[in-house]
Amino acid sequence: MNSIIEALHIQAKVSDSTHTFYKYPARFSPEFARAVIENFSSVGDLVVDPFCGGGTSVVEALRLGRRVIGSDLNLLATFVAKTKAVPLGEHARHQAAAVADHVYTARTTTFPKACREHYLKYVPSAASQWAAAAISAVKDYARSPKVARFVRLAVLRTAQLTLDARDTAPTGRQLDECFGEVLANQLSIAAQYHEELRAVWPQTPKLGKDLRVRNGRASDGRHFWSIAGKADLIITSPPYVGVHMIYHRWQIRGRRETPFPYLLAGEQDGQCESYYTMGSRSDTGVENYFTELGQSAIEFRRVLRAGGVLAVLVGFSDPTEMSRRFIQVIEAAGFTEFSNELASSDRLWRQVPGRKWFARSQANHNASKERLLLFR
Ligand SMILES: C[S@@+](CC[C@H](N)C(=O)[O-])C[C@H]1O[C@@H](n2cnc3c(N)ncnc32)[C@H](O)[C@@H]1O
Repeated sequence: MNSIIEALHIQAKVSDSTHTFYKYPARFSPEFARAVIENFSSVGDLVVDPFCGGGTSVVEALRLGRRVIGSDLNLLATFVAKTKAVPLGEHARHQAAAVADHVYTARTTTFPKACREHYLKYVPSAASQWAAAAISAVKDYARSPKVARFVRLAVLRTAQLTLDARDTAPTGRQLDECFGEVLANQLSIAAQYHEELRAVWPQTPKLGKDLRVRNGRASDGRHFWSIAGKADLIITSPPYVGVHMIYHRWQIRGRRETPFPYLLAGEQDGQCESYYTMGSRSDTGVENYFTELGQSAIEFRRVLRAGGVLAVLVGFSDPTEMSRRFIQVIEAAGFTEFSNELASSDRLWRQVPGRKWFARSQANHNASKERLLLFR
């Protein structure tokens, strides 16, 4: 159990396995997800993450030989989670490398007119042209969905590295160079990840069988129950209460927000911030949050076997009041909190390193803390 508390307080940057393929906001540290999964489940068990984001828990569950269902309402999240989690064998990796070669020589093209106004907002023209050509190469040459997703993710990561939180616009040449590095890194990590899963699994886990990634609301349990029996563990991190977090935009050229990543992932956006955060920062938004949380907790109770653990990591703009209410809402669905059996209350709070959070009051520094809550 101490391993969970130790892992909770790790401050190092994420540098392990397929987690480096994309930087999803407010993600778990892989060490923390691993410690929780190791402590509260066994090989062959079913682990569920109904707010799976970029899929940290999904990948860690597979690496530990657990079956897993990840679900999230953000299509960018499920694209990233699925691509990080699905292992690529040698043949598929060769195909991905061959598709990537076409990215450098792809014909000049532009994104369809219908996309331009929304998805290309604030995107510098060299980046938009480069990405349009790269995506057209993926569409023309990738022969399977998993290879297409893999190369698309390298395009997405290249654009994230060169645009998100940057003030300068990259040239086509810089994008090519960055893409080359990203792809080479992805391929080498994918080979290690594939080997690692082969050592743990009798047969490589397959999407749709041992590994499922679904798109939908946590309060709509059809996404994650009724499919594979009851879960042994739910490990999850819902949006933070009363905190503004940008899951669905990149900030480019001095904080201008763009939905460009959806275009690169080939997924639909079209939703406002409060859609992705379960409610805005207003009082009404916070009420909506707790209503949605209560409905989600009812589904969690239904999917989790008796005695199974629900492990939650969450932040609050008002930690004292909101964490009390958070516990009440989950307990109203039939859970009992037992975090204090693990450690003293102050050890259950985590200081989050270098995170861009905007709480209801910007002076509220408490919002840079997260709390681990355990229920059964
Ligand atoms: C803190 S992030 C999860 C990050 C994740 N643990 C990781 O390691 O990448 C919270 C996630 O909840 C998702 N989300 C927000 N409202 C949701 C809802 N009602 N149902 C399911 N997912 C939701 C967001 O899209 C976001 O990806």
